[in-house]
Amino acid sequence: MTSNEIRQSFLDFFSSKQHAIVPSASLMPDAPNLLFTNAGMNQFVPYFLGERESANPRIADTQKCIRAGGKHNDLEDVGLDTYHHTFFEMLGNWSIGDYFKKEAIEWAWELITEVWKFPKERLYASVYKPGEGDPAEFDQEAYDFWKAVFEKAGLDPEIHIVFGNKKDNFWMMGDTGPCGPCSELHVDLTPDGDTKGSLVNADSPYCIEIWNLVFIQFNATPEGDYVPLKAQHVDTGMGFERVAGIMATSKNFTDFSTPPSNYNSDLFDTLFQEFEKLSGHSYQRTLPADLDNITDVEMKDIIFRVLADHIRCLSCSIADGILPGNENRNYVLRRILRRAVMYGRKLGLENGFFANLVPVVVNQLGHVFPELAQQEEIIKKIIKSEEDAFGRTLDRGIQLFDKIATDEGEISGLNAFTLYDTYGFPLDLTELMAKQKGISVDTKGFEVEMEKQRSKARASQKKSDILVADSDSALEATKFVGFDTMADEAELIDIVEADDAAYLVFNQTPFYAEMGGQVGDTGAIEFEGAHFQAVDTIKDPNGRHLHKVSGDLAGIALGQVANLIVDHDRRKSIERHHSATHVLHWALRKVLGTHVRQAGSLVDNQRLRFDFSHFEAIKPEQLALIERLCNEQLLANCKVEWFETPFDQKPKEVMAFFGDKYGDVVRVVDIGGFSKELCGGTHVRGTGEIGLLKITSETGISAGTRRIEAIVGDSLYSHINDIESTIAIASKSLSTAPNELLKKIDVVLARNAELEKQLKSFKQKASGNLADDLLKAAKESNGLKLVAAKVEASDPNALRQLGANVIGKLEEGVVLLGAEIKGKVSVVAFASQGAIAAGYKAGDIIRETTAKLNGRGGGKPDFAMGGAANVADLQKTIDAFSL
Ligand code: SER
Repeated sequence: MTSNEIRQSFLDFFSSKQHAIVPSASLMPDAPNLLFTNAGMNQFVPYFLGERESANPRIADTQKCIRAGGKHNDLEDVGLDTYHHTFFEMLGNWSIGDYFKKEAIEWAWELITEVWKFPKERLYASVYKPGEGDPAEFDQEAYDFWKAVFEKAGLDPEIHIVFGNKKDNFWMMGDTGPCGPCSELHVDLTPDGDTKGSLVNADSPYCIEIWNLVFIQFNATPEGDYVPLKAQHVDTGMGFERVAGIMATSKNFTDFSTPPSNYNSDLFDTLFQEFEKLSGHSYQRTLPADLDNITDVEMKDIIFRVLADHIRCLSCSIADGILPGNENRNYVLRRILRRAVMYGRKLGLENGFFANLVPVVVNQLGHVFPELAQQEEIIKKIIKSEEDAFGRTLDRGIQLFDKIATDEGEISGLNAFTLYDTYGFPLDLTELMAKQKGISVDTKGFEVEMEKQRSKARASQKKSDILVADSDSALEATKFVGFDTMADEAELIDIVEADDAAYLVFNQTPFYAEMGGQVGDTGAIEFEGAHFQAVDTIKDPNGRHLHKVSGDLAGIALGQVANLIVDHDRRKSIERHHSATHVLHWALRKVLGTHVRQAGSLVDNQRLRFDFSHFEAIKPEQLALIERLCNEQLLANCKVEWFETPFDQKPKEVMAFFGDKYGDVVRVVDIGGFSKELCGGTHVRGTGEIGLLKITSETGISAGTRRIEAIVGDSLYSHINDIESTIAIASKSLSTAPNELLKKIDVVLARNAELEKQLKSFKQKASGNLADDLLKAAKESNGLKLVAAKVEASDPNALRQLGANVIGKLEEGVVLLGAEIKGKVSVVAFASQGAIAAGYKAGDIIRETTAKLNGRGGGKPDFAMGGAANVADLQKTIDAFSL
């Protein structure tokens, strides 16, 4: 069977068992604690927890998964074996409170043995048997069903059922969430297929797990408890590439003489053909016999596998809007990409090769995951720009690495950090290179250097304010009432004193505290008899709003009530810029693509600054379109609304940025239905309040991250006023009306050009006249003429021009001219061929002359120039020169 046939037959089989077939979810997980979608069940978690109801209690699909970083991380194994991948497809069937162990086990057996015809005697099932301290009971039920299945097949359950503890047979998505005991199916792929279960879970490539049936019964809580769920569910995950690899290697179970490999399946054929074309090496199907001593051929085969895996991973994640970057999941991708580029180098592949593999992946998977085909061009561009960026430092980094490796025999923490910081080598890449050379890397030392850099960065950017209060679980967060009002009464409950200021804490406040890019509010705090100006509001780690004030605190006491009045105009300005940021984000995604994601934001009363993922400078016409789309939405005066919702129940289209931490209850800001973002900031009520938006700059701030600055509303109004007054001043200076200004500028520029031309010709003429005068005064000796004079010249170039004029008319001889230009001496000398033959070289003449004048110069025998400081002796020195 081909891989496409296998995938389709899986879906058809479960469709025949009344399962609804759904598309794969995005690789961007819908849960804040995951780096990537790492299992088919991720998208069904709310169903398992009973938070949402599924339209159909039986579901099947193929799910894109990435296991790199986080709890399930297979990155280090990729390439070294033949069955681990960072990216893979997981075929799955789900029961949401519907069927349970019996059907799950019987259907898995039926599909595998009846439809796909796996030899029954080569199959082993594992069943959960808790070890000491492990949760839950022995899974008797699963055992009994498997026993019946094997007995019916005439196989001994004592041999074909093996047991595993929590490590192997209790599945958890992460540290928390739905989980339960699982039963795995393993296939014996040894030539004789008679290992009697001894290789199950023994990390042998000859016996691999192909299907995991998880019986979801518990919810693991952050406190470490396993709370039974109301309903029981089935979550299965079948390794698609593994099944395809087994069928391909064994030629549909007719030949077990060759070692199994996922890479034998047709899923990798076209990629391998491409590598063969590019590298001239043909894949030899070897595996490293000794990891400390990898041969050249083995290494090339490893590289084939790594590159094939990594390009699938990068293409699919970028198609889902996860781009290589500097932090979190984005950095995982950058690491994977850089690994691939480095490996490609080893195979002699040129910069850009990796991006060129994208179409091969799209050909293979584009019909299964349409977003791949839709985003092909963008994926290529993003990969290319990453390759270019890394390519710029890669060779020098490799050189440095080799030098350190040779000179020092190990990579110190500082060197690993330099490789990371200056040359862009992720630590795991340095480790990988070191491993291949058999040397060590001081990773602890690296962490120390990293921490030093982090604290430097913190010190340079963070206000000391935030340090004024420590985390204290006894302290309650301040109630924020500022979404609805800008003035309220509140009771003073704490005063935090710092060196330069004091911070007042109230039981509630309308003052927004700096958060999520929106700056803190300022305003008045009025106690009876004591008034303060709050110059900033920040949040401490306990969620308390700290109002920064200065002045004498003697007149106030805890328990006193004050009027808290936010600076209304400033806050309104901030809100305009904040809502405009959401509109801009929407427009960016619309024009540039859905890969655009917020990477940082600053909103104050004067401007907005928005950082986002994008791989190249935005073209002027795109920028114009973005600005126009924003302004259309502002003019349409769209309604701005917000509401709170449990995180899991937020509308599907809401953009959440999982680098950020969200609580259980989140706030959704909806602008006109076209923009929905999780956001805790304050906003205008309608986009019409924003006025207009003007983008003031677009720049790159790091590889793959761009920055836009824009102004709206009153800031834009002041900006326009500034421009207008500049225009008014310019019009006045040029004595014209503003609307005639451009015409007038053209006229002035044309006149200026004409005058320049005239001036040049006057200068030439004057220089010619002066040259003639100088010639008349030429002295002659031994058949050579000498012109040596101190003259007037506007700049060294004019002096040189004059000298050239004179020598041109002099026949044979020497010209030495000096001038005082801007308080300094400039000298030039020319010598004709005859003069040179007689021993008078311009270079020597200038050297000698400038030396006498406290300066330097030189040049060729026929022409030389120099400068000096001693203006006073210029005349004397020139007069003293003779032939
Ligand atoms: N959740 C299980 C796994 O990922 C089965 O789908 O292995």
